[in-house]
Amino acid sequence: MPLLGVNIDHVATVRQARRTNEPDPVHAAVLAELGGADAITVHLREDRRHIQDRDVRLLKEICRVRLNLEMAVSDEITKIALNLVPDQVTLVPERREEITTEGGLDVKTHFQRIRQCIDQLQGVGIMCSLFIDPDVAQVEKARELGVEAVELHTGCYADARTPEKIEYEFDRLREAGLYANAQGLKLNLGHGLTYRNVRRVAEIHCVHELNIGHSIVAQAMMVGFERAVREMKQLVTL
Ligand code: PXP
Repeated sequence: MPLLGVNIDHVATVRQARRTNEPDPVHAAVLAELGGADAITVHLREDRRHIQDRDVRLLKEICRVRLNLEMAVSDEITKIALNLVPDQVTLVPERREEITTEGGLDVKTHFQRIRQCIDQLQGVGIMCSLFIDPDVAQVEKARELGVEAVELHTGCYADARTPEKIEYEFDRLREAGLYANAQGLKLNLGHGLTYRNVRRVAEIHCVHELNIGHSIVAQAMMVGFERAVREMKQLVTL
């Protein structure tokens, strides 16, 4: 049964729209845990557009489940991670103009830089995951780096609109996912997953964790955070 990581960035997005102190992502994290979240995920971006340093500090103190910090391969954020020691770091690409994380990390091109970052993080006992496209060559490079997990980008699967394209993208995910699993890597999936499209990928037999943010936060506005998480948890563990 896959675990559910709940990404609470967009609770902070609403707060930052007014630069005020509500809604508080720390509050959302507590409710997410009550709803059955297995991990809390936040992305501390270099531009601090949603999650702030204070959020990560407090989450580290109050989370009873695993805290997964998403971050770019950046000296500034690496320093923060080394100080804070979250349970897990997921390295992601980051571009200032993007609305959300667009593609996976190019592990082939940035191999040395990523290696240095991972060495530092693993050196203080942080479990490392790499957010990559569903591509066997990228998985292979991730394995060479000695990370514990990969998170395959499900954005193309989520955006596919025709049955043929959905099948094509699903097959890419499954193939890269099975390869990752066969290499001894934990297989996580995330990005663009919703209450409508999650079942199919949750059924890939070796999936360790699904990381879902926007759809849960959107549903939480209608039914409350705890219930929104519980509904997603039921779907992924059916
Ligand atoms: N996984 C990673 C690595 C991400 O960057 C994001 C978006 O911040 C997510 C999962 C969650 O994506 P969504 O908000 O579309 O569910």
